[in-house]
Amino acid sequence: MLPIGPLMIEHRLIEKMIQVMMHQLDHIRAGNNVDSSLIETITDFIRAYADRCHHGKEEDILFRELAKKVISSEHKKIIEQLVEDHTLGRKITKSLVEANQKYRQGDQKALPVITDCLHSLVTFYPKHIEKEDKRFFLPVMAYFTEQEKDAMLAEGHEFDSNLLHEEYKNIVKQAESRIPHQP
Ligand SMILES: [Fe+2]
Ligand SMILES: [Fe+2]
Repeated sequence: MLPIGPLMIEHRLIEKMIQVMMHQLDHIRAGNNVDSSLIETITDFIRAYADRCHHGKEEDILFRELAKKVISSEHKKIIEQLVEDHTLGRKITKSLVEANQKYRQGDQKALPVITDCLHSLVTFYPKHIEKEDKRFFLPVMAYFTEQEKDAMLAEGHEFDSNLLHEEYKNIVKQAESRIPHQP
């Protein structure tokens, strides 16, 4: 498998969550209450999967290796755009998490912020995925030897496996912090 194989498979799961987000956006726009726990599930997914796991492999493996190669100015430009998109995604997700917390505490002013954030994410993210899938991933594979591609694929597997352990270490850490301090 090419190192972009797992990335493309991950895109399909992210697209499914985008559908959930579109559904929730329509639901809110129809005058219904925000499903705050669903928003939390969505933002947890974006942070842990779409950003840390998926963008992590793109930036820390694929883009890092491309930076060592002489690549076309078009591909350089696309990488810059993709990194900017990742940064924008993080910013919108942070705003969505904050607005959702405020909404949960009864702040109705948070409602338009939630719809704006959802709207931004469902608008820009499919375009981002399309750019990678249709204009970037396959053409940039030509810069690498078979050995280099295999090494990136293996590094991606290791990256995922480390993340799993990191996630559960954090869960235990958070749980420990809830133990009342002994006098
Ligand atoms: Fe990306
Ligand atoms: Fe991606």
